Amino acid sequence: MAVSYFKRFRMEIDLEGNTTPVALPEGYRWVAWSDQLLDLHAELKYLSFRNELDSLIFPCLGEREGCRRLMGEIRRKPGFLPSATWAIAAPEGCVATIQGVVDQGPIGAIQNVGVIPGYRGLGLGRALVRQALGGFAAAGLRRAYLEVTADNHLAVRLYRSLGFRRSRTLYKAIDYDLEL
Ligand SMILES: CC(C)(COP(=O)(O)OP(=O)(O)OC[C@H]1O[C@@H](n2cnc3c(N)ncnc32)[C@H](O)[C@@H]1OP(=O)(O)O)[C@@H](O)C(=O)NCCC(=O)NCCS
Repeated sequence: MAVSYFKRFRMEIDLEGNTTPVALPEGYRWVAWSDQLLDLHAELKYLSFRNELDSLIFPCLGEREGCRRLMGEIRRKPGFLPSATWAIAAPEGCVATIQGVVDQGPIGAIQNVGVIPGYRGLGLGRALVRQALGGFAAAGLRRAYLEVTADNHLAVRLYRSLGFRRSRTLYKAIDYDLEL
């Protein structure tokens, strides 16, 4: 057995002045949370993360059942916040997901941001994060945070450009079997 360490950043943002909604591309629409959508969010999470770096660090993100379990855990958190939890529907169906909870502080905590591969680079990631930040502000919160893998450069850049700043560096240990 060997251990690898993945560097992760906690990034925080002051909500004041950072919650203006981002318009969706034409033909796309917001889908508000309802409990019937739990499996849909889980599926979007799976399709967004299955081939990505984060699924090495959090193997449940690379499995359909793991994403369902994780989505259930998020839903059952006492601070689960529907106003910070959204999907985006393209004309063909839903393609992106974000979930938010109120953490101790209180502070808004973005859980996972995922846009399925064929729909990236359209501004949906940016729109999702802003939508969640607006939901936190509407719930009376003043700050929010998320955690991101340091090597996920595109995501780190997106969050920086939205106003998030690094507040802490964390190391996530992963055990793996050495094949001899
Ligand atoms: C990170 C992620 C959510 C970004 O979603 P997105 O919808 O592509 O983001 P946006 O379209 O708002 O683009 C954000 C920035 O990245 C660039 N970009 C994103 N994807 C791109 C792509 N496929 N091609 C070209 N540029 C891209 C955009 O130009 C934009 O840059 P800018 O802000 O300088 O203009 C998405 O790539 C994803 O789901 N990744 C896998 C899951 C993941 O790692 N989530 C983050 C966990 S913390």
